[in-house]
Amino acid sequence: MAMWGGRFSETTSQSVADFSESISYDQRLYKFDIQGSKAHAAMLGASGIIPEATSKAIIEELDKILERIEKGDFEFKQSLEDIHMNIESALIDKLGNEGARVHSARSRNDQVALDIRLYLRDEIKNIVELLKEFQKALVFQAEQNIDTIMPGFTHLQHAQVVSFAHHLLAYVEMFSRDIERLEDCAKRINVLVLGSGAIAGTTLPIDREMVCKLLNFERVSRNSMDAVADRDFAIELVNALAIFTMHCSRLSEDIILWCSQEFNFIELGDAFCTGSSLMPQKKNPDVAEITRGKTARVYGDLMALLTMCKGLPLTYNRDLQEDKEAIFDAIDTVKKILSVYPPMLGTLTPKKANMEKAANDPALMATDIAEELVKLGVPFRNAHHRVGSYVKYCKDNGKNLDECTLEEMQITIPEATAEFLTLFDPRKSVAKRNIVGATGFEQVAKQVKFWQDKLK
Ligand code: ARG
Repeated sequence: MAMWGGRFSETTSQSVADFSESISYDQRLYKFDIQGSKAHAAMLGASGIIPEATSKAIIEELDKILERIEKGDFEFKQSLEDIHMNIESALIDKLGNEGARVHSARSRNDQVALDIRLYLRDEIKNIVELLKEFQKALVFQAEQNIDTIMPGFTHLQHAQVVSFAHHLLAYVEMFSRDIERLEDCAKRINVLVLGSGAIAGTTLPIDREMVCKLLNFERVSRNSMDAVADRDFAIELVNALAIFTMHCSRLSEDIILWCSQEFNFIELGDAFCTGSSLMPQKKNPDVAEITRGKTARVYGDLMALLTMCKGLPLTYNRDLQEDKEAIFDAIDTVKKILSVYPPMLGTLTPKKANMEKAANDPALMATDIAEELVKLGVPFRNAHHRVGSYVKYCKDNGKNLDECTLEEMQITIPEATAEFLTLFDPRKSVAKRNIVGATGFEQVAKQVKFWQDKLK
């Protein structure tokens, strides 16, 4: 008979047990379930709800159960449904009636909400650390490539010349916001929900502040119905992870393009690429591709959580058990990406000559000419038009922008001086963008230094 079997006269059908169990996946919460139960038992003892000696015995036995689980010496039973009842039942096996006191003033509804919060609080810390390693790998490459120049793209068309480091640091910025989002959502996760009972709290004189302190939460929840019903904190977290994978996916797309024969801007280490079973010449950037692919499943996890919650009347409904696989999958997927990406970036070798050659296209300096005109007092819109006409003149005459004489240039740009013909140097074009946030070498060097200091 199940632990809740008092009002039942038949046992659960096997197909229902198979269908409704969560122990096959929520067993990974064991550490947090035990941590929560220990704090709860300590409080029950201190508040006189159970004898002090019983509280002590429960806490000691919970430690033994933890040890057994870590040694692989604990049998998780499907008939006990979930991690909460597996551990409680093991406690009762050892302590009999003393163990049966642990669930006083508690429900699995507040217990599971507590466990997920403890688990996510822990994982956020791990992920933030890994994300910083990711940033470090990018900053390391940036440091080596401040004066590596390449065409920057808009619409996947050559736009203006940029420093390769500037491109890499763009992702460092994105990841720093991902970290902020994770840390921000940790604030809302860091609330003690235990003590909410199944829905309405308890008639027993529990000390929630004590449990809150023991478990290092920021504060206790104010509304028991909200506490057992909502999973917005998990949705927020998976949303932050989905945004992070979106950023990774874009970086992956850049890397995939750069590895292609058409771009030929970088080479990745052999250890981080795979070959084709058919075409002997192939070396594919599979890590980047799989990352781009895995982004889709994290979006799927986010959609699953949002959809799972949208039609639920307050408060707890068993649907909420389905939160775990989506949460775990998002976290596992992100951790997998984080374990492989930074070392892969360490093997990235830029093909500087190819990048520079692509950057050495005078058309990329068209904006510089327009801005030179602005310096001479020409309104930008007119300057833009004149340079546009010059580009057309060059195209019509089969010339590059730097292949005309000053007289030819003056046909469309009457203000042009001899100096204008020197504006087609891609390095100078980058160097001149010497304002905060721009790609000028001096600025990028400052940004590299900023991140190095921050990530120390
Ligand atoms: N395994 C359940 C879950 O993950 C625990 C809570 C079950 N509560 C209940 N009243 N059946 O949500």
